[in-house]
Amino acid sequence: MKDVAVIYKTVYGSTEKYAAWIAGELQADLYKLEDIDIATLENYRHLVFGAPMFALRRFPRRRIVMLLRDDPEKHLFIFGVALGIIVFHGDARLAFLERLPEDVRPRVRFFTYSGAIDYHRLRPGHRLILHFLYRHLRRIVPSKRDEQTQKFFDSYGIAADFTDLKATASLIEACRQLIKKP
Ligand SMILES: Cc1cc2nc3c(=O)[nH]c(=O)nc-3n(C[C@H](O)[C@H](O)[C@H](O)COP(=O)(O)O)c2cc1C
Repeated sequence: MKDVAVIYKTVYGSTEKYAAWIAGELQADLYKLEDIDIATLENYRHLVFGAPMFALRRFPRRRIVMLLRDDPEKHLFIFGVALGIIVFHGDARLAFLERLPEDVRPRVRFFTYSGAIDYHRLRPGHRLILHFLYRHLRRIVPSKRDEQTQKFFDSYGIAADFTDLKATASLIEACRQLIKKP
Protein backbone atom coordinates (compact mmCIF):
# COMPACT_ATOMS: atom_id res chain seq x y z
CA MET A 1 0.00 0.00 0.00
CA LYS A 2 1.30 3.49 -0.88
CA ASP A 3 1.18 6.38 1.59
CA VAL A 4 -0.58 9.35 0.01
CA ALA A 5 -2.39 10.34 -3.19
CA VAL A 6 -3.04 14.02 -3.95
CA ILE A 7 -6.02 14.56 -6.25
CA TYR A 8 -7.00 17.96 -7.57
CA LYS A 9 -9.42 19.83 -9.75
CA THR A 10 -8.35 23.16 -11.19
CA VAL A 11 -9.75 25.62 -13.69
CA TYR A 12 -7.07 28.32 -13.88
CA GLY A 13 -4.07 26.59 -12.30
CA SER A 14 -3.69 27.84 -8.72
CA THR A 15 -5.10 24.68 -7.12
CA GLU A 16 -2.75 22.64 -9.28
CA LYS A 17 0.17 24.68 -7.94
CA TYR A 18 -0.81 23.87 -4.34
CA ALA A 19 -1.45 20.21 -5.18
CA ALA A 20 1.92 19.78 -6.89
CA TRP A 21 3.68 21.44 -3.97
CA ILE A 22 1.95 19.25 -1.36
CA ALA A 23 2.60 16.10 -3.41
CA GLY A 24 6.27 17.04 -3.72
CA GLU A 25 6.65 17.65 0.02
CA LEU A 26 4.90 14.38 0.88
CA GLN A 27 6.46 12.41 -1.99
CA ALA A 28 2.91 11.51 -2.92
CA ASP A 29 1.39 10.53 -6.25
CA LEU A 30 -0.39 13.42 -7.97
CA TYR A 31 -3.57 13.01 -10.01
CA LYS A 32 -5.96 15.29 -11.85
CA LEU A 33 -9.51 14.39 -10.79
CA GLU A 34 -10.52 13.92 -14.43
CA ASP A 35 -7.74 11.41 -15.03
CA ILE A 36 -8.19 9.11 -12.09
CA ASP A 37 -10.23 6.00 -11.54
CA ILE A 38 -11.42 6.46 -7.95
CA ALA A 39 -11.08 2.71 -7.28
CA THR A 40 -7.27 3.01 -7.51
CA LEU A 41 -7.37 5.24 -4.42
CA GLU A 42 -7.97 2.09 -2.39
CA ASN A 43 -4.23 1.53 -2.70
CA TYR A 44 -3.35 4.64 -0.67
CA ARG A 45 -3.30 4.98 3.09
CA HIS A 46 -4.37 8.65 3.01
CA LEU A 47 -5.91 11.05 0.51
CA VAL A 48 -5.49 14.77 -0.13
CA PHE A 49 -8.08 16.45 -2.34
CA GLY A 50 -7.92 20.06 -3.58
CA ALA A 51 -10.33 22.18 -5.63
CA PRO A 52 -11.31 25.83 -6.07
CA MET A 53 -14.10 26.49 -3.56
CA PHE A 54 -16.54 27.22 -6.36
CA ALA A 55 -15.87 23.74 -7.84
CA LEU A 56 -16.04 21.76 -4.59
CA ARG A 57 -19.30 20.19 -5.72
CA ARG A 58 -17.21 18.12 -8.14
CA PHE A 59 -15.76 16.22 -5.20
CA PRO A 60 -16.76 12.53 -5.65
CA ARG A 61 -18.22 12.41 -2.16
CA ARG A 62 -20.07 9.08 -2.21
CA ARG A 63 -17.18 7.07 -3.56
CA ILE A 64 -14.64 8.66 -1.25
CA VAL A 65 -16.92 8.05 1.75
CA MET A 66 -17.05 4.38 0.72
CA LEU A 67 -13.24 4.24 0.67
CA LEU A 68 -13.09 5.82 4.13
CA ARG A 69 -15.60 3.32 5.46
CA ASP A 70 -13.71 0.38 3.95
CA ASP A 71 -10.51 1.42 5.69
CA PRO A 72 -10.95 2.90 9.19
CA GLU A 73 -7.30 4.07 9.22
CA LYS A 74 -7.66 6.18 6.09
CA HIS A 75 -7.74 9.98 6.49
CA LEU A 76 -8.85 12.64 4.05
CA PHE A 77 -7.41 16.16 3.81
CA ILE A 78 -9.40 18.62 1.75
CA PHE A 79 -8.19 22.03 0.66
CA GLY A 80 -10.38 24.66 -0.96
CA VAL A 81 -8.89 27.58 -2.89
CA ALA A 82 -10.53 31.01 -3.17
CA LEU A 83 -9.50 34.65 -3.33
CA GLY A 84 -10.78 35.20 0.15
CA ILE A 85 -14.37 35.78 0.92
CA ILE A 86 -16.84 33.10 -0.12
CA VAL A 87 -20.05 34.93 -0.74
CA PHE A 88 -22.05 32.91 -3.21
CA HIS A 89 -21.03 29.60 -1.74
CA GLY A 90 -22.02 30.38 1.87
CA ASP A 91 -19.71 28.75 4.37
CA ALA A 92 -18.38 26.24 1.85
CA ARG A 93 -16.20 24.54 4.43
CA LEU A 94 -19.05 23.92 6.84
CA ALA A 95 -21.43 22.89 4.07
CA PHE A 96 -18.90 20.40 2.80
CA LEU A 97 -18.28 18.83 6.21
CA GLU A 98 -21.98 18.70 7.02
CA ARG A 99 -22.64 16.67 3.89
CA LEU A 100 -20.26 13.96 5.06
CA PRO A 101 -21.72 11.19 7.21
CA GLU A 102 -20.89 11.56 10.89
CA ASP A 103 -18.93 8.31 11.12
CA VAL A 104 -16.21 9.51 8.71
CA ARG A 105 -16.08 13.20 9.74
CA PRO A 106 -13.45 12.76 12.48
CA ARG A 107 -11.03 11.54 9.79
CA VAL A 108 -11.57 14.54 7.52
CA ARG A 109 -9.77 17.88 7.84
CA PHE A 110 -10.51 20.95 5.77
CA PHE A 111 -8.07 23.76 4.89
CA THR A 112 -8.57 26.95 2.88
CA TYR A 113 -5.89 28.65 0.79
CA SER A 114 -5.70 31.92 -1.13
CA GLY A 115 -5.80 31.58 -4.90
CA ALA A 116 -5.14 33.70 -7.94
CA ILE A 117 -7.11 35.41 -10.67
CA ASP A 118 -6.45 36.94 -14.05
CA TYR A 119 -9.52 38.69 -15.41
CA HIS A 120 -8.04 38.73 -18.92
CA ARG A 121 -8.01 34.92 -18.96
CA LEU A 122 -11.46 34.34 -17.44
CA ARG A 123 -14.15 32.57 -19.41
CA PRO A 124 -17.01 35.02 -20.16
CA GLY A 125 -19.44 33.15 -17.86
CA HIS A 126 -16.95 33.25 -15.00
CA ARG A 127 -16.29 36.96 -15.55
CA LEU A 128 -20.02 37.57 -15.22
CA ILE A 129 -20.25 35.63 -11.95
CA LEU A 130 -17.35 37.62 -10.52
CA HIS A 131 -18.95 40.85 -11.67
CA PHE A 132 -22.08 39.96 -9.65
CA LEU A 133 -19.91 39.06 -6.69
CA TYR A 134 -18.15 42.41 -6.98
CA ARG A 135 -21.44 44.31 -7.09
CA HIS A 136 -22.66 42.39 -4.08
CA LEU A 137 -19.52 43.12 -2.09
CA ARG A 138 -19.43 46.79 -3.06
CA ARG A 139 -22.37 47.33 -0.69
CA ILE A 140 -20.03 46.71 2.23
CA VAL A 141 -18.66 50.12 3.19
CA PRO A 142 -14.84 50.31 2.93
CA SER A 143 -14.31 50.78 6.68
CA LYS A 144 -16.13 47.49 7.37
CA ARG A 145 -14.29 45.44 4.75
CA ASP A 146 -12.03 42.80 6.21
CA GLU A 147 -8.69 41.78 4.75
CA GLN A 148 -10.20 38.99 2.64
CA THR A 149 -12.89 41.20 1.16
CA GLN A 150 -10.28 43.82 0.41
CA LYS A 151 -8.22 41.22 -1.47
CA PHE A 152 -11.17 40.63 -3.72
CA PHE A 153 -11.54 44.35 -4.45
CA ASP A 154 -7.84 44.89 -4.97
CA SER A 155 -7.71 42.19 -7.61
CA TYR A 156 -10.97 42.99 -9.38
CA GLY A 157 -10.49 43.41 -13.14
CA ILE A 158 -6.75 42.74 -13.11
CA ALA A 159 -4.37 39.85 -12.50
CA ALA A 160 -3.41 39.03 -8.92
CA ASP A 161 -1.76 36.07 -7.29
CA PHE A 162 -2.27 35.48 -3.55
CA THR A 163 -1.04 31.90 -3.57
CA ASP A 164 1.17 31.16 -0.60
CA LEU A 165 2.70 27.71 -0.58
CA LYS A 166 3.84 28.12 3.03
CA ALA A 167 0.16 28.06 4.03
CA THR A 168 0.18 24.31 3.35
CA ALA A 169 2.60 23.61 6.23
CA SER A 170 -0.06 22.44 8.70
CA LEU A 171 -1.69 20.06 6.21
CA ILE A 172 1.71 18.61 5.29
CA GLU A 173 2.72 18.24 8.93
CA ALA A 174 -0.57 16.55 9.91
CA CYS A 175 -0.25 14.14 7.01
CA ARG A 176 3.39 13.37 7.87
CA GLN A 177 2.38 12.52 11.43
CA LEU A 178 -0.13 9.99 10.11
CA ILE A 179 2.34 8.45 7.68
CA LYS A 180 4.81 7.91 10.53
CA LYS A 181 2.30 5.71 12.36
CA PRO A 182 2.99 2.03 11.73
C1 LIG B 1 -16.80 31.17 -11.34
C2 LIG B 1 -15.89 31.64 -10.24
C3 LIG B 1 -16.43 31.89 -8.99
C4 LIG B 1 -15.60 32.32 -7.96
N1 LIG B 1 -16.16 32.60 -6.76
C5 LIG B 1 -15.35 33.06 -5.78
C6 LIG B 1 -15.89 33.40 -4.50
O1 LIG B 1 -17.09 33.32 -4.24
N2 LIG B 1 -15.03 33.85 -3.58
C7 LIG B 1 -13.71 33.97 -3.81
O2 LIG B 1 -12.98 34.36 -2.93
N3 LIG B 1 -13.16 33.65 -4.99
C8 LIG B 1 -13.96 33.22 -5.97
N4 LIG B 1 -13.40 32.90 -7.19
C9 LIG B 1 -11.95 32.99 -7.38
C10 LIG B 1 -11.30 31.61 -7.40
O3 LIG B 1 -11.64 30.89 -6.23
C11 LIG B 1 -9.80 31.72 -7.52
O4 LIG B 1 -9.52 32.36 -8.71
C12 LIG B 1 -9.10 30.37 -7.46
O5 LIG B 1 -7.73 30.60 -7.28
C13 LIG B 1 -9.34 29.53 -8.71
O6 LIG B 1 -8.67 28.28 -8.60
P1 LIG B 1 -7.94 27.61 -9.86
O7 LIG B 1 -6.85 28.60 -10.30
O8 LIG B 1 -7.35 26.35 -9.36
O9 LIG B 1 -8.96 27.39 -10.91
C14 LIG B 1 -14.21 32.50 -8.22
C15 LIG B 1 -13.69 32.23 -9.48
C16 LIG B 1 -14.51 31.82 -10.49
C17 LIG B 1 -13.90 31.56 -11.85
